[in-house]
Amino acid sequence: MTLTVNEAFRKFKSRLELNQKEQDNASAKHTEVRDYLHTKFAIEGDFLTGSYKRHTKTKPLKDIDIFFPMKQSERHYRDKDPGVVLDDYTAVMVEKYGEKAVRRQSRSINVDFGIEIKDEDKTDYKVLSIDVVPAFTCDENYEIPDGDTSKWIKTNPKIHAQKAVDAHQAYSSEWKGLVRMVKYWNNNPKHGEKPVKPSFLIEVMAHECLHGGWGGQFDREIQSFFATLADRIGDTWEDPAKLGPPISGSMDAARVERAKKLLTAAAREADQAIHLVRQGKNGEALRAWRDLFGPMFPLS
Ligand SMILES: Nc1ncnc2c1ncn2[C@@H]1O[C@H](COP(=O)(O)OP(=O)(O)OP(=O)(O)O)[C@@H](O)[C@H]1O
Ligand SMILES: [Mg+2]
Repeated sequence: MTLTVNEAFRKFKSRLELNQKEQDNASAKHTEVRDYLHTKFAIEGDFLTGSYKRHTKTKPLKDIDIFFPMKQSERHYRDKDPGVVLDDYTAVMVEKYGEKAVRRQSRSINVDFGIEIKDEDKTDYKVLSIDVVPAFTCDENYEIPDGDTSKWIKTNPKIHAQKAVDAHQAYSSEWKGLVRMVKYWNNNPKHGEKPVKPSFLIEVMAHECLHGGWGGQFDREIQSFFATLADRIGDTWEDPAKLGPPISGSMDAARVERAKKLLTAAAREADQAIHLVRQGKNGEALRAWRDLFGPMFPLS
């Protein structure tokens, strides 16, 4: 049975969805890390968040964000350099998970569970890693440490989540799927470094780069999404919640140039794949989309 391009995209989309086993594994990891961190810091109301919570996380499933808002008794950290709380959380995580598994990042501590990525990006439904984010509440928002700028930045995951829900609804419930697909492209190891960094920027840009409503064909949607991303990757992209620093802050001139080149190439490849269908070359079109995206794009 041959698959049409649109059917292949539907399958691709569902492969990038979180399934129950993955959610169970994420929740087990959350519980494990929470139970441990509660013995080390005074934490109140930790929760799973980021693209995982919004269903804009791609596969293989890694870097799931967990916010750890701290109680008043830990407030002293807020008066110190953000590096201090990041260092202390890192040290505590190293105690349990070991030096090799733990990495301090700009705004979080990454714990890698050493899960192997198998053929076709499969991970046995396991979460590869999580990002622990120390936080404080600040009115209805949160403040999190930024080790790069040595500042505390404001954020509000609820606003990001609501905006994603609204965009998804306005796009016939196809918006999140399209975001996951382009994030999957962005994560492809063939690029070396991710073209768009952070990948949250793809979601932020999607608020403006997916416009005019769902047109009914995945290939055309993706083609024009890539083309618009290429066009606008050099713009300044503010935090959709208007709280934190611009999301495009780490796209310097060299990164913009490289991303523009790769996004333009992707838009062109997408165009060629669409052309193949017009020529009746369905199998070749599927192959072209798989080359573009990676192994989770189905050929059959
Ligand atoms: N500059 C910023 N200002 C305010 N909030 C931000 C900023 N950058 C990220 N965030 C918030 O922190 C969350 C976690 O950041 P992260 O970079 O992991 O993005 P993500 O959406 O989870 O994408 P990914 O799939 O790459 O993990 C984001 O989802 C967003 O809610
Ligand atoms: Mg994240």
